Amino acid sequence: MTLTPKRAQDSLVQMTELVLPNDTNTFGNLMGGRLMYWMDIAAALACMKHCSAPVVTASVDNISFENPIKLGNVVHIESKVSRAFNTSMEVHIRVWGEDPVQQYRYKSNEAFMTFVALDPNGNSRPVPKIIPDTEEEKKLYDTAMSRRQLRLILGGKLKPEDADALKAFFSI
Ligand SMILES: CC(C)(COP(=O)(O)OP(=O)(O)OC[C@H]1O[C@@H](n2cnc3c(N)ncnc32)[C@H](O)[C@@H]1OP(=O)(O)O)[C@@H](O)C(=O)NCCC(=O)NCCS
Repeated sequence: MTLTPKRAQDSLVQMTELVLPNDTNTFGNLMGGRLMYWMDIAAALACMKHCSAPVVTASVDNISFENPIKLGNVVHIESKVSRAFNTSMEVHIRVWGEDPVQQYRYKSNEAFMTFVALDPNGNSRPVPKIIPDTEEEKKLYDTAMSRRQLRLILGGKLKPEDADALKAFFSI
């Protein structure tokens, strides 16, 4: 079965949340776990938009929290599929905080997650390829193979000696 490739931009999901008291830690900042929960949902929605199927989270790459998001601030999450492989998709997630009174935005963090599309029997199923259009989409697309190979090595699914893209990345 040949699936029609789809534009990266068509998978874009924008999510907005307000940080309420139940979302915060004892410092009055958004809890990392709550943010990761929202990121997981935004990322899954982008993948479902792309492949028109249910998906499961296969892996989450490292997440660094650059700036805390305060109680009463707004959380903006954008997710977009950066590259699709066979049955899996890498999705890029970016997060900003916003002070709605002073009206300024600040970067919180970004991350990559991988999702696998499932058929009605719960088995992995093929997904359409991604067409990157913008310079940023092309850069994310081009670098996705190295990230995939690194996470598959770390997940025990790929032997380091078989990671061609990583070898090219590290060879001078
Ligand atoms: C993710 C999952 C479907 C992969 O199943 P699997 O039997 O290992 O599947 P396969 O080896 O056939 O791989 C299927 C795809 O998953 C990818 N994959 C598997 N492990 C991965 C990992 N650790 N990181 C990234 N991708 C991974 C493979 O590369 C493959 O992608 P491709 O077809 O594009 O090449 C399975 O492990 C699963 O269901 N995990 C639980 C998911 C879940 O419940 N998530 C919610 C959080 S608990």
